[in-house]
Amino acid sequence: MIQRRDISENILSGSATLKDVLVALNRGIQGVVFVVDDSGAMTGLFTDGDARRALLGGGNLSDFAAQHMNRKFTVGKASDSRQENLKLLNERVRHLPLVDEAGRPVDMITWAEMWRLPVMEPSLAGNELKYVTDCLGSGWISSQGPYVRRFEEAFATFHSVPHALTVSNGTVALHLALVALGIGPGDEVIVPDLTFAASANVVIHCGATPVLADVTPDTWTLDPADVARKITRRTKAVMPVHLYGHPCDMDPILALAKKHNLFVVEDNAEALGAEYRGAKTGTMGDVGCFSFFANKVITTGEGGMVICKDAALFQKMQVLRDHGMEKSRRYWHLVPGFNYRLTSMQAAIGLAQMERLEHFLSRRDEIVARYDAALSKVPGIVLPPRAPWARNIHWLYSILVDPALAGIDRDALAVRLGELGIETRGFFFPLHIMPPYASTDAFPVTTDVSSRGLSLPTANDIRFEDVDRVCAAIADIVRTALTLKNHAAA
Ligand SMILES: Cc1ncc(COP(=O)(O)O)c(C=O)c1O
Repeated sequence: MIQRRDISENILSGSATLKDVLVALNRGIQGVVFVVDDSGAMTGLFTDGDARRALLGGGNLSDFAAQHMNRKFTVGKASDSRQENLKLLNERVRHLPLVDEAGRPVDMITWAEMWRLPVMEPSLAGNELKYVTDCLGSGWISSQGPYVRRFEEAFATFHSVPHALTVSNGTVALHLALVALGIGPGDEVIVPDLTFAASANVVIHCGATPVLADVTPDTWTLDPADVARKITRRTKAVMPVHLYGHPCDMDPILALAKKHNLFVVEDNAEALGAEYRGAKTGTMGDVGCFSFFANKVITTGEGGMVICKDAALFQKMQVLRDHGMEKSRRYWHLVPGFNYRLTSMQAAIGLAQMERLEHFLSRRDEIVARYDAALSKVPGIVLPPRAPWARNIHWLYSILVDPALAGIDRDALAVRLGELGIETRGFFFPLHIMPPYASTDAFPVTTDVSSRGLSLPTANDIRFEDVDRVCAAIADIVRTALTLKNHAAA
């Protein structure tokens, strides 16, 4: 038995005013209000658009809702099956109130429920199944066999580097790099305040201390000026994170690293394929680290990679990845290492994903152009950064919401989009406000960007109609919020 949802907040009586309707809609109740008579039977409804049209058509906030409501509505019967009722939904009928025998709304279903749009989902329509099947058939399902090597080779070739090593995920890629570089107790590693926590966690797992630096407003990535301020005698490395697909400003970071003799470990979990002045992200530091979690540009389910140019460092990472065992002498351990290997089945998926990487990247450019064109017209929506020297691959198409101009803040916008079946992600919290990384330093840019940033659906295979749907929903929500704000001010 399917439980009914509580729609009491969606129901207003005939004596409600237009203002009551707008306030209810703005609170976020799936974008629909049902108006009922004294017996509780439905007499009309308002969507966001209905309410806005009423105001723009000369209605006053103090008018009775009944004067302006939409009286031509479709209802389903609460006693009918869900399947039966779903048939009544379409592009025009997006909210279906379900009424009892007396015509009283007791439940509803929405178009959005049928068309949930995730922030990210993998695209596995290439050779993934073929290669995994081949892998299973061969019996090479652990971390040996041809697929691991082929995936590593394809990855190294894409980046024009001599060495690529698969690992179990992006977090251990970072950990492996730091351990191989000798980072340990007493050392400091500079990490951006705005990043996924794994970047800082791995520093702590080495026994070292993550020292946070702010990001810049025009890249949302590590601010070289703040890095310079945070360098001490104990600083051993800096970790530029190419956040949300945008490269860090690497030249000044590399210059600082050279001057102070620091290692550079690039956290490129989110920016496979991005470029800084023509160089691929992940290839400019000592080690580049990647994640292939299911929401990343390419995926192996869980998985990761480290790349580097230095043969000795590569060998160190190879040994550490495999229990610290000498490569040519089984069961002879040189160091206490880890098991950070990727399975052959995952590598089979990874190889198939690599075959389509260029396609994914160009598809992303098209998705981004479509978002840019529509959202640049919406007041209070700040488009993602794109420094002149950057190729941003927009891991997630991410915007900032300016509540003063949009009439709505980031969190309320996210709730409203969620009700329309559009999944979004707020940005990472600033690391410095969470207990494991607490710092009393000021991080004004991270603090601001983190509270206003919102990532929108950006799957490699997202349909252009769905991008349009997201943009139209944002435009509509902002328009309603501004209408309400303007009337309240009047
Ligand atoms: C910036 C950043 N670093 C590290 C990671 C860790 O990668 P994984 O989830 O594969 O361990 C992620 C992703 O989840 C990330 O976004």
